[in-house]
Amino acid sequence: MRADVVFLPSELKPSHLEGRVVVVLDILRATTTIAAALSAGVEQILIFPDIESVRRAKVQIPAALSCGEQNCFKPIGFDLGNSPGDLGPGHIGKTLLMSTTNGTKAILAARGAARIFTGALVNSRAVAEKIRQIGMDVTLLCAGTNEKLATEDVIGAGALIRSLGDDIELESDAAVLARQHFKSSGDNLVPILRSAAGGQNLIRANLAKDIDFAARMDIINAVGEVKDGEPIRIVRAG
Ligand code: MLT
Repeated sequence: MRADVVFLPSELKPSHLEGRVVVVLDILRATTTIAAALSAGVEQILIFPDIESVRRAKVQIPAALSCGEQNCFKPIGFDLGNSPGDLGPGHIGKTLLMSTTNGTKAILAARGAARIFTGALVNSRAVAEKIRQIGMDVTLLCAGTNEKLATEDVIGAGALIRSLGDDIELESDAAVLARQHFKSSGDNLVPILRSAAGGQNLIRANLAKDIDFAARMDIINAVGEVKDGEPIRIVRAG
């Protein structure tokens, strides 16, 4: 099995998608929140390109919960922001309507892959197990922050490569670099995530607790799988 890493959605080529599994990583915070939501028992997460589309969908499906962020904060009138720790037993069986600045856009950019999953540090091992079961080559797609490389997403890709095991063939220097970056991060995930641009944005928004949540390796078994449709939706992978 082979693994490649793409640092930004704008760098995706058809060859990264066709006949491959894609795992989308937005460690701070969208894909961490998706893992937490599915682990809490959320039934499905419908993905929208922007906040206004979520508002329109909420009118059509009032029982669903709008969820996401604008400049890190909960958009006006939304039920939930993008904090993974806010998902809990009260959300069992719920549908979320989600849009965020970078993460959900990266998920939409991955359409065309054979299978699409969402991954994070909190469920790295579980995602790796899923990829192993499928046995296809994998592209690890980093969401980035405002169209710039995000160190936490590269670390997330490296963690997944580690979890996939030593026999994985790395297809590019990007993949080698991601593995090395995770390895050299050692026990310093929290300070590294805090010093990243996305981490600094969260600290300024008084949301540092979300960084600490995102840095907890392998606390979640739930894995999100993207299912085609209009809108596309994410469910817990079987
Ligand atoms: C995003 O998708 O842009 C991020 O998750 C932003 C955030 O909520 O911090």
